[in-house]
Amino acid sequence: MPKSPEDIIRDEIRALSAYHVPDSGGMVKLDAMENPYRLPSELASAIAARVTAAAVNRYPDPGARALKTQLRGAMQIPADMEVVLGNGSDELIQMLALAVARPGAVVLGVEPSFVMFRMIATIAGMRYVGVPLNPDFTIAAGPTIAAIEQHQPALIFIAYPNNPSGNLFDADVLARIIAAAPGIVVIDEAYHAFAGRTFMPRLAEFPNLLVMRTVSKLGLAGLRLGLLAGRENWLHHIDKVRLPYNVNVLTQLVVAEALEHREVLETQAAAIRAERARMLTELRHLPGVEAYGSDANFILFRVARADPIFDGLKQRGVLIKNLNGTHTLLAGCLRVTIGTPGENAQFLNALAATLNP
Ligand SMILES: Cc1ncc(COP(=O)(O)O)c(C=O)c1O
Repeated sequence: MPKSPEDIIRDEIRALSAYHVPDSGGMVKLDAMENPYRLPSELASAIAARVTAAAVNRYPDPGARALKTQLRGAMQIPADMEVVLGNGSDELIQMLALAVARPGAVVLGVEPSFVMFRMIATIAGMRYVGVPLNPDFTIAAGPTIAAIEQHQPALIFIAYPNNPSGNLFDADVLARIIAAAPGIVVIDEAYHAFAGRTFMPRLAEFPNLLVMRTVSKLGLAGLRLGLLAGRENWLHHIDKVRLPYNVNVLTQLVVAEALEHREVLETQAAAIRAERARMLTELRHLPGVEAYGSDANFILFRVARADPIFDGLKQRGVLIKNLNGTHTLLAGCLRVTIGTPGENAQFLNALAATLNP
């Protein structure tokens, strides 16, 4: 008689809820921090030509050397630092956790932040310690450093700007946190294109700092490519955890072509930043809405009745993210991704109608 899943599957995995991706068919999709713009047709054609010529019968270059060289330029990675690529930054988070997951080892993060930090730590069999942010979503320097001293984390993740709050933490506080940490500190710069602030040039300053980036928010989320930059003494171990062909042939080719026309993605990011400013002003004009400033491609806002407002938007064909109930600091909070001007107008109209039915 075979044993049941209850006997075989680890307790902490059975206790997890799966990362939920709601069905967005036919909706204005403003829930997942995607770039709303497609690639222009000339670039799409150049990509098609590269894909046509691709040798998909062969395994990809396991080191993705050509792509890495291009990424070094595009992301201004210091020449003396190493690079490891992941199938999205999600995979890099997983590789980091697997590499440090000694029995009893701790991952530390601030809360609320990107949910995959906790989830992947749990999957890797590690203990996760979440230190609450201040109610205004700034980082709580004293409590965070005290928690580092108490728990001696092997790995710390800080999203800069933070998801879901959208703000950049104080760089001096982050420097103190990195200096206080006994293990690796990963500054996750997924939203760099919308923030313009970075720890990349500061890698040499801290022996335990790694900087993570992704092409997802820049407009290439479907390709799944993230990168980790830092010292060779850390990254050559992390690279051993990586599955050999984790970045497939088509991703390598298509990202390379897109980066040759980086100005297209940068123009789109600039349009998103301009729309973010307009959306923030409009949201702040709506009575009963408290909207937080953002350095990312989304805005967090608070309303008195988040659940019915979220449902009302959905009924009007607009999907955003409901964060109410996910953390005490997020009571009443919803998060909207910046879309095209038309999508944003649809969202704002639907929100105004939902607030005043
Ligand atoms: C802070 C942060 N890091 C990483 C990711 C995941 O990025 P990727 O698409 O590269 O896996 C997200 C996605 O929402 C995020 O918010």
